[in-house]
Amino acid sequence: MSRLQAGRRHPVRFSLNGKPCTGEAEPRLLLTDFLRHQIGMTGTHVGCEHGVCGACTVSIDGSPARACLTLAAQVDGCEVRTVESLAPSAGRLGILQAAFKRNHALQCGFCTAGILMSLDCLLRDHPRPDEATIRDFLSGHLCRCTGYAPIIRAALEAAAEMAGDVSRETTHA
Ligand code: FES
Ligand code: FES
Repeated sequence: MSRLQAGRRHPVRFSLNGKPCTGEAEPRLLLTDFLRHQIGMTGTHVGCEHGVCGACTVSIDGSPARACLTLAAQVDGCEVRTVESLAPSAGRLGILQAAFKRNHALQCGFCTAGILMSLDCLLRDHPRPDEATIRDFLSGHLCRCTGYAPIIRAALEAAAEMAGDVSRETTHA
């Protein structure tokens, strides 16, 4: 990456949820603030802001990443996906989202966007994860509400559905 000048806004061109996106960011601007306040994608949540809770997790080039520990300038040229990418269309839920809804895997929902994005990355690489793998993958996420059991249930259910072990109509939001 070329050297950026402090205090100056620099163009950031990247793919956001499959579409080209351009913005401007000072070198120290966090990806969370860039996404939420400049691009208007508020699905990515901000909790601890220092890499502990996982609420801000997005996918960068296919890997889960803490948006609160990523500078906006770092995603120049990258493929970024946020929770907004999971719904197939307005008013419909993706498979993971629908499984979370069925299993009551969220209460306040604050942690949910980040957990969904981590699971989405996991299931793209490992279509049939076992429970231990899911638990391990989600160990970097804090949820104050659910006790985690429904989240694991929902993840296993969604994995089975994506792998074609069960079929279910996409649920309406
Ligand atoms: S807000 Fe990024 S890890 Fe907590
Ligand atoms: S659903 Fe409330 S923090 Fe997880």
